[in-house]
Amino acid sequence: MSLLRSLLVSLLIVISSATMANEGMWLPLLLEKLNEKEMKGLGMKISTKDIYNVNSGSLKDAIVSFGGFCTGEVISSKGLVLTNHHCGLDAIQTHSTIGHNYIRDGFWAMNYAEELPNPKLFVTFIIRIEDVTKQILNGVTPSMTESERQSIVDKNISETRSKAKKETYQDVFVKAFFEANQYYMFITETYKDVRLVGAPPSSVGNFGQDTDNWMWPRHTGDFSMFRIYAGKDNKPAEYSADNVPYVPKRSLAISMDGVNEGDFTMVFGFPGKTMEYMHSEAIRQTMEVNNPVKIAVRDKALAIMDGFMRRDEQIKIQYTKKYASISNAWKKWRGEIPGLIRTGAVEKRKAYEAEFQKRVSANMEWKTKYGNLLKELEAAWKEIEPLGKARDYYTEINSKIELFTIARRVNALRNIKNNGGKHEYSEGLTKLKDTLTELYRNFNPAVDKQLFETLITMYVSDQDSKIVSPVLMEYLKTAGKDFKKLAEELYGAADYTSGIKMMTALEQNPAEIIERSKTIKASLLYDDMLATYNKEVAAKLNETQGRINQLQRTYMQAQMEVMKEKKFYPDANSTLRLTYGNVKGYTARDGVKYDFYSYLDGVMEKYIPGDYEFDVPEKLRSLYQNKDYGQYGKNGKMPVCLVATNHTTGGNSGSPALDAYGNLVGLNFDRAWEGVMSDISYDPSICRNIMVDIRYVLFIIDKYAGAGHLVKEMKLVNPKKK
Ligand code: ARG
Ligand code: GLU
Repeated sequence: MSLLRSLLVSLLIVISSATMANEGMWLPLLLEKLNEKEMKGLGMKISTKDIYNVNSGSLKDAIVSFGGFCTGEVISSKGLVLTNHHCGLDAIQTHSTIGHNYIRDGFWAMNYAEELPNPKLFVTFIIRIEDVTKQILNGVTPSMTESERQSIVDKNISETRSKAKKETYQDVFVKAFFEANQYYMFITETYKDVRLVGAPPSSVGNFGQDTDNWMWPRHTGDFSMFRIYAGKDNKPAEYSADNVPYVPKRSLAISMDGVNEGDFTMVFGFPGKTMEYMHSEAIRQTMEVNNPVKIAVRDKALAIMDGFMRRDEQIKIQYTKKYASISNAWKKWRGEIPGLIRTGAVEKRKAYEAEFQKRVSANMEWKTKYGNLLKELEAAWKEIEPLGKARDYYTEINSKIELFTIARRVNALRNIKNNGGKHEYSEGLTKLKDTLTELYRNFNPAVDKQLFETLITMYVSDQDSKIVSPVLMEYLKTAGKDFKKLAEELYGAADYTSGIKMMTALEQNPAEIIERSKTIKASLLYDDMLATYNKEVAAKLNETQGRINQLQRTYMQAQMEVMKEKKFYPDANSTLRLTYGNVKGYTARDGVKYDFYSYLDGVMEKYIPGDYEFDVPEKLRSLYQNKDYGQYGKNGKMPVCLVATNHTTGGNSGSPALDAYGNLVGLNFDRAWEGVMSDISYDPSICRNIMVDIRYVLFIIDKYAGAGHLVKEMKLVNPKKK
């Protein structure tokens, strides 16, 4: 019986690693060794040297980290860069005024002179990646404490960086991989003069907004365009009117042929963060504890904001961006839970752990080194459960109440002031004024008060009284245990909640208000909530988390040693990765099967005249009516979006989707809701990345916006008509 069982478990693992062919975010420099064969098997027609090569041009020379939070790609020999609309949104918004609302109406530069500079924006190219594990771990021994280890690692990193071969205009950084079992060094070039070239109206670039966010079928033209400018020598340079369009080492060719179901695709970019090697107990907690807490707080916050936004146009403008960002993660977390359940993620992870344990127990050396590892990991995770829950309540609630944001900033400046440092104080004051000017522009005290009342009620009634701030309990007692009254009192004082009053105070007599914060209730409350959290939660949480990190590092090393047949990829950490798969629809749930492509017809099906999410611009409607698709349509239809099995995550926004030849076929911008648990556990049956078809992008640029001169800069190819 037990033989049969273990056979079955091994079989399960073999099967699941065989079907996991599309899982993984791979390091470009290891593709040849680890992935080339499989990629060719899936249909790739080029070699991995064409993708990553340090000695001659390769596709990686066309990929940039866009502002450090998204991905972009170079698509012309004059430095044109393509990324998502939601990645370029800050730039688009900054240049918008009531007179020319580029968010609502779109923007197109008709020549170089009209392109708009963006002082804080930059793009970074990866020149070279090197494995520096040996150098970084030199002198590290297994018996060291975490802090001993870290100080040696830090010293080695700074030595390695200073010895790195690079040009003066290049940068170098070192990052940890595989839970700090390995380290890689990156030589980079950062261009800081990046100008806005074009963006569609948000009714195209963000069509469907929050309702369609994370959803398939999708009909969003989520793109915007920029241009990299360089000094006359083509090297990175600070912004200058004299800078010239950057001539890239490589730009992507654009396929006009599209892809069909089953075709090979790859996505090349900068995924931010995944947790693919967590213990099964950690997955369970994500599903049963952490996500539910975070969702519950955001449910309430979003409902409050939505209520106000529907009643008041001004509030709608002020809270749109905040609402979108709170709802983005909220919706993803809600999707993760059913995805994990449906694909049996905990059970699969448990089976994997059982197999690991079996192999370890059967080998004397492994048994000594790793015998207790899983047990200790599980125990540490159990220990952290209540602490993680308290952390999630605290951070979620605190970050939604802007009164606390104000108090935190003011208190911090008071501390700087009282600890000497005249220069730091005046610098801090300038920063505070900048931050608060920004904050008050989009602040409504009535909304914030309601958030305070509702979320503070949760903070008190959903939690153990031991971790609740005593100062809050005292204030609450004075207010007759009435949360509404407490909120009224705090917001009624209006020291912080009236932007005009506060900004005047900061202009006329900053020292007075900064000093007086010592007695302002919001400031006292913020400090005490933080102090209570630090004392009752954070101290123990950090200690336990440190232990988990250490155990997890050993477990990672052990897995690579013990599960020899498995190919490992490091968790995402905002470094350049390649993921590959095939274009493919999916079965969303019983009886619901999704196609792999969407068309402009679907935009028209979703069209709701005048709706803020589903309105369609008149020009686009008429192009549709006349089937006026130019060279971009296919069989009388206009392709819009598509899905494939590429394993992507946040940060992959704006990443190019490439065909079997390395031509650009789409722009990654989202994942399908049913499979968003891929950050924790990827399953090829329902995990899909969502891309906008490059032909739709070109159609909007050319036929809709009349900026066809930009398309002329690009290299269009027909790989399928060869
Ligand atoms: N879900 C995508 C991502 O995580 C798109 C977010 C922007 N779009 C939106 N409708 N909020 O970034
Ligand atoms: N929209 C995400 C981003 O901004 C990509 C979606 C995902 O998480 O995969 O990076």
